[in-house]
This record gives sequence, C-alpha cells and structure tokens, in this order.
Amino acid sequence: MKTIKVGLVGFGTIGTGVAKLLLLQKERISKRTGCDVQLVRIADLDTTRDRGLKLPEGMLTADYHDILNDPEISIVVQLIGGTGVERTVMLEMINAGKNIVTANKALLATYGEEIFTAARAKGVSVAFEAAVGGGIPIIAAMGESLAANEIESIHAILNGTCNFILSNMEENGSDYAPTLKEAQRLGFAEANPAMDVEGSDTAQKLSILSHIAFGIHLDWKDIPKVGIETVSGIDFRYAKLLGYSIKLLAIANRVRGVAGSPDKLELSVCPTLVKKGSPIAAVSGAYNAVSVIGDAVETSFYYGKGAGEMPTASAVVADVMDTVVGRTKITFETLNLWNREKESGENVVLAKASEVKGRYYLRVVVEDRAGVISEVTAVLANAGISISSCVQDECDEASGVPLIIMTHETTEGAVLGAIEEMKQMACVKSEPVRMRIYG
Ligand SMILES: NC(=O)c1ccc[n+]([C@@H]2O[C@H](COP(=O)([O-])OP(=O)(O)OC[C@H]3O[C@@H](n4cnc5c(N)ncnc54)[C@H](OP(=O)(O)O)[C@@H]3O)[C@@H](O)[C@H]2O)c1
Repeated sequence: MKTIKVGLVGFGTIGTGVAKLLLLQKERISKRTGCDVQLVRIADLDTTRDRGLKLPEGMLTADYHDILNDPEISIVVQLIGGTGVERTVMLEMINAGKNIVTANKALLATYGEEIFTAARAKGVSVAFEAAVGGGIPIIAAMGESLAANEIESIHAILNGTCNFILSNMEENGSDYAPTLKEAQRLGFAEANPAMDVEGSDTAQKLSILSHIAFGIHLDWKDIPKVGIETVSGIDFRYAKLLGYSIKLLAIANRVRGVAGSPDKLELSVCPTLVKKGSPIAAVSGAYNAVSVIGDAVETSFYYGKGAGEMPTASAVVADVMDTVVGRTKITFETLNLWNREKESGENVVLAKASEVKGRYYLRVVVEDRAGVISEVTAVLANAGISISSCVQDECDEASGVPLIIMTHETTEGAVLGAIEEMKQMACVKSEPVRMRIYG
C-alpha cells in the first residue's frame, strides 16, 4: 500500500479535530483511499496545552519549518487563522511543492489569486471545503455536482454566530446587546465578534462561493454589507406580525444581460426578512444553510453545522482523502479558480451596489405628531420607491415611534439615497434601519 505523509500546521480547535480523525480513524481512511495516510508532524506555537489527544513522541513541534523542510510530507493541512503569517506559511508550503488543505476563508478571500496562481505554477492543489459552511459539502456541490448548471442565485446563512444571536433574539424577544453577551458566555461568539457580526466573515465566504459559481473575480470588500448590530427586538416583533423571520443572508443573484451585454451579479450581505415556513427561515441556532438555484437543477438546499471542531474536521479530512486519491487535483485544474474568467471570458460583472435590486424593510423612528408619516413617505415617493405596507404602532416612548415600511422592488441605491435624506429630517429621531426582504 502506498504511503502518503501529511503535516498539520495549527493544532487549535479544528487542528485537534483533524488530528483525531487522521489518527483515530486511520484504518477507515486507509480503506477508503487505498493508501496508508500517515499524519507525521504537527506544528503549533503551543506544544504543551492538553488537547485531549495522545500524540506519538516527537510528532508535535513549535516550528512549522519542520514540516516545510520534510521532503516526504506531500500534503499540508494549514489551520492557522488570519492573513499575516498564514499567507507566508501557505506560500512557502506551496513553493516547497506541498499540496494544501485549508479552512482559512479570510486568507483565500483576500489572497486567493496569489495563492492559486502560485499553486498552479508549482503543479500542486489547494483544497478548501471547510472554508465555507464548515461541515456542509457546499464547495464540492458547487464545483462538481452542479457543474452542468449555470447558477442563477445563492441565498445562504454562512455565519453560525450571527444565526445563533438572531435565533435567540427571535425566541426570547430580547435585544441585540444582551444576546451577544450570552452568545459570548456560551462560546458561540468570540470576545471580539466584529468579523462575524459586521458581516465580514459572511462576505468572505460569499466571495469564495461566487468565484466558484459565477467565475467572477472580486474583492470581498466590494460586497455591500450590513451587520446584525442594527437589528432590534422591535424588528422581530414586526417581522412576526408580517409573517417573516430575520436572518443574516448572503445573496448572489445573476441578472441576465440584454443585447449582448454581460450578465450582472448582484451581491449583498444584509439582515433579511425571510418568509416563515420557507426552509431558510427554519435554520436556527449555530446552523448554516445554502440555497442554490441552477438552470437545470432548479432549487437545491444544503444544511448542516457551519463550524465546530468535528464538523469542520470532517470537511478538512475529506479534502485530505480527495487529495490522496487525486480528485482534488482534477477539480482544482478544471475549476481554475481566480483565473477562470480571464481565460474563458465568462460573461459576468459585479453590479454596482446602487444597482442591486430588491424589496426592503425600513424602520424609521419618528416624532409622534400629525403629518409625520406623509413627510417620510414623500421622501420615498421622490426616490421612486413604492410602498407595499406601512405600520405605525401606538407607543409611549419619548424617543419616538417606529414606523415600519415594506417596499415593493426598488434598488439599494434608491433606498440609501432616501435614508440619507431622512437622516437630515428633524422628525426622524435616529438613523433608519434597512433590511432586505426575500421570498
Ligand atoms: N473554529 C471553527 O469552527 C472554524 C470553522 C470553519 C473554518 N475555520 C477556520 O479554520 C482555521 C483554524 O481555526 P481554529 O478555530 O482551529 O483556530 P484556533 O483554535 O485559533 O487554532 C489556530 C492554531 O494555530 C496556531 N498557530 C498560530 N500561528 C502559528 C504558527 N506560526 N505556527 C504554528 N501554529 C500556529 C495557534 O496557536 P496559538 O493559539 O498559540 O496562537 C492555534 O493553536 C481558521 O482559518 C478558521 O477561520 C474555523
């Protein structure tokens, strides 16, 4: 039986899960790959912490160069987070001729082009199933199983922390700040939750999915995003009244070009009202889900644990096994990521944020006096935004009363313009909150 040697850099949460699978399920992995897959070296800055796993003597090192400089190691699992030293480690490993398996979406979303170009030049592969959706095999679904389709749209919940917070706010009728604290106490949110709650993590994952699904080359920072900090208990109360739940949705929508012009891709990350009873509205807690519409398959739906030690390790080790049997190399070469649109001239361009179409939910807190509704709705009418419903509750708060407006289809640009105008109005007491409406 052929022996394949594997090195692991980063023995943290996911690294520990990967080591458990590679060491404790060695027989299963060997049977399924037809190779003796040996985890031979693990590098981590901390070589003393107890991870609940007994390693063979000499396996753990504090210096990743011990993996880099071992010519017998052909696959490196790179599981340190971030984009600083991680980029150096990744490029050094690639240049040393190692095949890479990683879960680091921030690194791929930021330096994907550099990493994939280096890998192509060196004839090695980069596998990254765990970078999006944790244990959900969405990269394989998009890259392989849906290959016969032109993807029309993606609607996805890609951040477990945000979904945990929003689900708890909905269930308990609580506000954002105390729910975030509780999520931190329970280990569902980081001490610094900014990347999650501001939508950056979701935007990075959406950019990776968009590379695969639409062959578009883009910087994740160009994806318009709104975080969940603006969502309040009041929004859930009104959403329920109107038959919706609220989720942080990553949305990618292809709009067909006319008269030979390229298709436009509308991308956004935004708290979104989703119809109760739809599969995506039922996704609660730290779970993730991705709904994909393809021109042949029509709607398909993927659901599961988007994070955590073993679900994520499941995806990482599947990538190791795919690399061992040669599947990763084939997918890597055929997908030609971060290069495809240049070579194939695929006809998709990013829509400007102002052009993104959709229906919107607006919460505008206004002074409690006669005529105020017509002043606010006049701003929307001037911006060409048509209203589908408008609700104002009785409220005795001195800080103002919430006016809840649902629009018909309009553009993000029109909504942003109207919000800017409302912010200048004396009768508007705080910055209006906007969410998208889906379904
Ligand atoms: N956690 C999840 O559920 C999840 C899900 C999907 C994807 N991911 C991604 O998977 C990656 C790993 O996440 P994680 O949660 O396992 O992170 P983690 O628990 O922080 O583990 C990272 C490990 O890498 C070590 N490290 C840092 N610099 C190093 C270096 N130069 N050489 C060797 N080791 C080094 C860290 O050591 P120190 O602690 O001593 O710094 C830490 O033990 C990240 O990119 C993350 O975004 C995570």
